[in-house]
Amino acid sequence: QETATSTAPAASGPAATASAPAKVYVVGTDAAYAPFESQNEKGEIVGFDIDVVSAIAAKAGVQVKFVNTPWEGIFNALQQGDRDVLVSAITITDERKQTMDFTAPYFDAVQLIAVKQGSKVAKFDDLKPLKVGVQTGTTGDEVVTKLLGKNSAAIKRFESTPLALKELESGGVDAVVADNGVVIHYVANNAGAGFKTVSDPSFTPEQYGIAVRKGNTAVLEMINQGLAGIRADGTYDRIYAKYFGS
Ligand code: ARG
Repeated sequence: QETATSTAPAASGPAATASAPAKVYVVGTDAAYAPFESQNEKGEIVGFDIDVVSAIAAKAGVQVKFVNTPWEGIFNALQQGDRDVLVSAITITDERKQTMDFTAPYFDAVQLIAVKQGSKVAKFDDLKPLKVGVQTGTTGDEVVTKLLGKNSAAIKRFESTPLALKELESGGVDAVVADNGVVIHYVANNAGAGFKTVSDPSFTPEQYGIAVRKGNTAVLEMINQGLAGIRADGTYDRIYAKYFGS
């Protein structure tokens, strides 16, 4: 289990008191989702989401520790109190809002199809007779499940998005549907895989939010204020440019 601690000046933060040690907020992330969260060669958790939350923590004057948390158990880990915060390219959905609270959106996304370069797939509907890989329990899983049916044998579910993309490379599936940022990053960094991307206007816009336990308004407000702060002072734009260009 890899962690990364970012230390921020504790003088102004809500956790700063003279006697008690400052609270370290435990942030869960499924670190197999570059460029949002991944592990580098040293095993450190890095990425856009990590930089954003670290900057928010610095603004708020609190400490955070990132803990790699598999996607399949990530919402449960929050619920159980094992994590205080989740940042994991999590799309804000009405269903998820029933069980957790989300900050203001911090990133826009949309589903994108990855196929082999020779593929005839030109739109989402073309996936109907094909085998499609998704990461279990993601919004990509949701749209493909809607298209092909819940029990369709044509849907292959993987515990991470890179595993689904590897399966596309080896020919076990004909397409993968996942968030645009991750698919674009993978295609750009794995030219040898011979993938291309296909977009479709039927995919609805998605927005990422940072999640806290339902009713945890103190932490929610702290993060929202920090997020507004890093947007206002240009930090967010600098982080954005670092990962996605300006
Ligand atoms: N945005 C998608 C969702 O919320 C996928 C997120 C997957 N994130 C990750 N770190 N694996 O369902």
